[in-house]
Amino acid sequence: MAKTKELSKDVRDKIVDLHKAGMGYKTIAKQLGCGNSSMSSDMYDAGYRSITNIDYSSVCIDTMSARHDATCPGMTWHQMDARQLSFTDASYDVVLEKGTLDAMLVEEKDPWKVSSETACLIDQVLREISRVLKPGGRFLSVTFAQPHFRKRLYARHDYGWSVCTRSYGDGFQYFLYVLTKGKELSPEDATLERRLLEEAQDPPNEVRTQEADTEAFLDCIDL
Ligand SMILES: C[S@@+](CC[C@H](N)C(=O)[O-])C[C@H]1O[C@@H](n2cnc3c(N)ncnc32)[C@H](O)[C@@H]1O
Repeated sequence: MAKTKELSKDVRDKIVDLHKAGMGYKTIAKQLGCGNSSMSSDMYDAGYRSITNIDYSSVCIDTMSARHDATCPGMTWHQMDARQLSFTDASYDVVLEKGTLDAMLVEEKDPWKVSSETACLIDQVLREISRVLKPGGRFLSVTFAQPHFRKRLYARHDYGWSVCTRSYGDGFQYFLYVLTKGKELSPEDATLERRLLEEAQDPPNEVRTQEADTEAFLDCIDL
């Protein structure tokens, strides 16, 4: 799954499968940090006609709007910061991001210990996503980040959603996180959140072993 275009199409197919299995919606979606990817036009071709795209790069938004306005009526493009969305509360069925949170985390040296600046940035974005989601709405996050890194960011009672992880692709694996607004965290995810909050107050000084990491990783995958 080396090429971005192939990944977009593959993700589109997985989202359509989820929809058929009752885990998605066909009405309104929002792509966060759309960049210049074909993800939204692929989704459009699959029948998702009402898509709002945002990116904080105006160059990117102008280019994408010029490219798609004639062929994808109903799809809109907005220059906007994901930390401060100008949409009303509970207005979207689905929020989708692919690689946007990864871009925000790219400068981090240690994925186990995200700096407080980046943690704050990600928290602002996740709070905004949670705010604009309707009850029962879903945040779909596509990334190469494995559950033992990404669940640390998503498993929070404050966001008011449950976290479900799916993995796809052979060789070069990617992950689709499905966060459902209004559903409870699983007991394991609630325990993870509690542990992380305790560690933040009282950082452990033991050395992390590779075995422990592998166990934590396997515990986190819901297959
Ligand atoms: C790695 S690209 C991903 C693009 C696209 N989603 C894809 O699948 O290829 C990250 C995008 O996120 C955008 N971005 C980064 N921070 C943002 C923010 N705070 N608000 C909105 N967009 C942001 C960047 O401008 C860039 O276009």
